[in-house]
Amino acid sequence: MKIWICPGSFDPVTMGHIDIIKRASRMCDHLIVAVGVNDGKKATFTLEERRQFILKSVKGLKNVEVDVFEGLLINYAENKGATAIVKGLRAVSDFEYELQMALLNKRLNEKIETVFLMTSINYSYLSSRAIKNIASNGGEIRGLVPDSIHDDIYEKLKEGEIK
Ligand code: PNS
Repeated sequence: MKIWICPGSFDPVTMGHIDIIKRASRMCDHLIVAVGVNDGKKATFTLEERRQFILKSVKGLKNVEVDVFEGLLINYAENKGATAIVKGLRAVSDFEYELQMALLNKRLNEKIETVFLMTSINYSYLSSRAIKNIASNGGEIRGLVPDSIHDDIYEKLKEGEIK
């Protein structure tokens, strides 16, 4: 069975991520969408909130599992029996960071490949940061995130303000 991992911060998941998840799920037998900690970013939503957002968004995709992981991605991928890590690339600006990650992960475990899918043109400008920025300033994010989590995002952002 061909198991792939689609890792990310997903803070929160966007339509751009969903596009990559759908396309990757057609390229393997089982896709694990793995929500991880990016030390370079301060997360807005908890790992569990982010997992729930994705779960609600991928309901129709039968071979997709959603999980969270802590520690090294490559160790997580190996423990899951994955043969590849799949990530989306939006623009040249993503490339340098993703190349470094892919090479470091290859150095840590040469058996696991990193596969890149180019984002669909419709979503190339999308980012989780932009979503949060628009929503927390009262803007409309419909169409940029899955409909199933649209209201939840506003609610969770409001809860965060109150805390
Ligand atoms: O969506 P992101 O922020 O690009 O996802 C980055 C993520 C979470 C996949 C990356 O930061 C990661 O793999 N974190 C786990 C720690 C790790 O393995 N670091 C070493 C990479 S060489």
